[in-house]
Amino acid sequence: MQTTSIWVKETESKSYPEFEGSQDFDVAIVGGGITGLTAGLLLQRSGKRVAILDNAQIAMGESGFTTAHLTQILDTRYHKLISDFGVEKACLAAASHRAAIDLIEKLSTEYSIDCQFEKVPGYLYSETGDDNADFEKEINALAKVNIPAQLVESAPLPFSTKQAIRIDTQAQFSPRKYLLGLADEFTKMGGCIFEHSRVSNVTDGSPCKVQIENGTISAYDVILSANVPVTNWLFLNTKIAAYRSYALCATTQKPVLPGLYWDSLDTYHYIRNYHSDKIGDCLIIGGEDHKTGTTANTDECFARLERYAREHFDITEIECRWSGQIINPVDGLAYIGLNSMAKHVYVSTGYSGNGLTYGTLGGMIIADAISGRENRFAPVYQATRVHAMASIGKFISENVDTPVHFIADRLSNNIAQSVDEIKFNEGALLKCNGETLAAYRDENGELHTCSAVCPHMGCLVQWNAAETSWDCPCHGSRFDKNGKLQNGPAIADLKPCDAVMDEIPAIA
Ligand code: FES
Repeated sequence: MQTTSIWVKETESKSYPEFEGSQDFDVAIVGGGITGLTAGLLLQRSGKRVAILDNAQIAMGESGFTTAHLTQILDTRYHKLISDFGVEKACLAAASHRAAIDLIEKLSTEYSIDCQFEKVPGYLYSETGDDNADFEKEINALAKVNIPAQLVESAPLPFSTKQAIRIDTQAQFSPRKYLLGLADEFTKMGGCIFEHSRVSNVTDGSPCKVQIENGTISAYDVILSANVPVTNWLFLNTKIAAYRSYALCATTQKPVLPGLYWDSLDTYHYIRNYHSDKIGDCLIIGGEDHKTGTTANTDECFARLERYAREHFDITEIECRWSGQIINPVDGLAYIGLNSMAKHVYVSTGYSGNGLTYGTLGGMIIADAISGRENRFAPVYQATRVHAMASIGKFISENVDTPVHFIADRLSNNIAQSVDEIKFNEGALLKCNGETLAAYRDENGELHTCSAVCPHMGCLVQWNAAETSWDCPCHGSRFDKNGKLQNGPAIADLKPCDAVMDEIPAIA
């Protein structure tokens, strides 16, 4: 089954022109997902002239491949945030996600965007009952950060669960409908969107310069709002780690009650309902996370998720399945604000599993900074912070394998011994004349090769079977089967390779 999200399947996008030539704007935004579109809309309506650039199509990156839970419950538990950052900052983190949910509701109402926004309760539940102590700790922490919550005996799911924490007034929506609505309003106000316009360089200054494949933009301020900033700046890349998460949408005879459900298993699952006008009542289930580029048999991740879905719910049919990239920050909170050593270049990344509230928040905080307005949440998320106490253990566990990849990749046993090993519609690494190639055999049997060296910082990419892509294990850059860039931080395709099949020696 090809991977596509239910949100992409059920919406049609307009197309926008490619950028060409040379133009001046007040603000240039690199990345047309939820951060870029929110910031763009807020800035355009405060009187700025804004351009949004996307290297493919707007709302088709990670924002279109989530499961769209809108919640104050973060991937990092509040008792951990309180212990690492203090009660005051943890309170601000909780309030900031509330503000993001409220802004989504406000904008969708104000612009009549029919995005199925709905307030629902959230349930953090235990399947085994092994984590009672943790649940006690967390309910106390939620009270300290002013999130009303209660311990209940179980979650209202069609299988048996142990205790749960119920949190009211969380929300869900259809993200692509919302984002396409924001884009419409943004352009009606005079904002410009350019698609298929890949940014190759950004220079801070007065003005800043944004280099695009076919031109240049000068802007007073630049926002790098792609999932991972398209810069090679090492400082930020050492503070984040990329993970893949998997999701499926299935029709069901017995819909679950509206709500957001998160289990406490390792690896965990997340569940919500969805009503489609085309296919009826559905369930959306996610989970099976792993670090990007470290699992070759990604089909097995989908297979495990489907097994979980069928064991726990009355599934009629799997309608579609997709995966998305999650960027985990080392200390548990996102990085939003001026980039290190920059005066006019802003970044917003490290959203963990809360991409849609963080994306909205990133848009709000940066729009305020550029407009000269104070934002009380900004100090919590400063992009330049180094929070040693919280970060150090996580830093080691997330990034210690990055230098290992630089060396071990080159000795990798994940290298095909012969081109004959590469089956139709599969990829593998190959050695040729001292180079490591990323080789993909298409459905007609033809072999396509490019360099396997990631243009970001030189790790070797790995084949992702379910999505027929090349994924980098170091900082999560992704390339399609032919080596074309899909996700940064790399800013270039895998280098083309002149090797042809005849030149590649079959090793006996
Ligand atoms: Fe950094 Fe590939 S993403 S080396």
